[in-house]
Amino acid sequence: MREIRISPSILNADFADLGKVAEELEQAGADAIHLDVMDGHFVRNITFGPAAVGAIRRHTSLPLEVHLMIERPDLYVEQFGDAGSDMLIMHRESSCDIGETLDSIRKNGMKTGLALNPDSEARSGFRFLPKTDMLLIMSVYPGFGGQKFIRKSLAKIKSCREYIRERGLKTIIGVDGGIDHENAGSVIEAGAVEIAPGTAIISSGNIKKAIRELRDL
Ligand code: DX5
Ligand code: ZN
Repeated sequence: MREIRISPSILNADFADLGKVAEELEQAGADAIHLDVMDGHFVRNITFGPAAVGAIRRHTSLPLEVHLMIERPDLYVEQFGDAGSDMLIMHRESSCDIGETLDSIRKNGMKTGLALNPDSEARSGFRFLPKTDMLLIMSVYPGFGGQKFIRKSLAKIKSCREYIRERGLKTIIGVDGGIDHENAGSVIEAGAVEIAPGTAIISSGNIKKAIRELRDL
């Protein structure tokens, strides 16, 4: 079995407790924390920005993987970098120069993520993979936690994995949206190295147990 990385999303956590949740996730053995930034334009929801990332930064030494569901990630690379982000995940569908923005993220000392919405073809991301540390396959339409996992994502994960393997690329595959104990096994089998479960961990009632059970899959 491949070593999997669990990067819980805090989207459905109580936003009044984000520091405490970050500490709990670290105690519970998470590999990273997935922070869902939304600007109300790219998706019809607004969550938080660099200031909140900076506040969470002070509560954990885990890598902070910032998922930018925003129109213009190019305009915020420095601010999220200064806030202490370890990885910025931008969307293939955002309105900026994808290649230049990936370069700018790396120039600012962070790892790069490229996210593909459910309706975006896998191949639309392929030419950017040399600049991408993690390709994030969205298995829900972005904007809200607690949605149902989209089964057709499994085929997309498989074709991305094939493409990466055939070309000997180093990009890892992450999957984000509706991941739980039922579907995590098939997501990993399809080729994912990292998963970003939100509700399945945060609303489980026992974060440590939820993470352990996912890891034991
Ligand atoms: C959706 C977010 C995801 C996800 C996390 O826009 O990008 O991180 O929904 O929450 P769950 O696991 O509840 O879908
Ligand atoms: Zn996310």
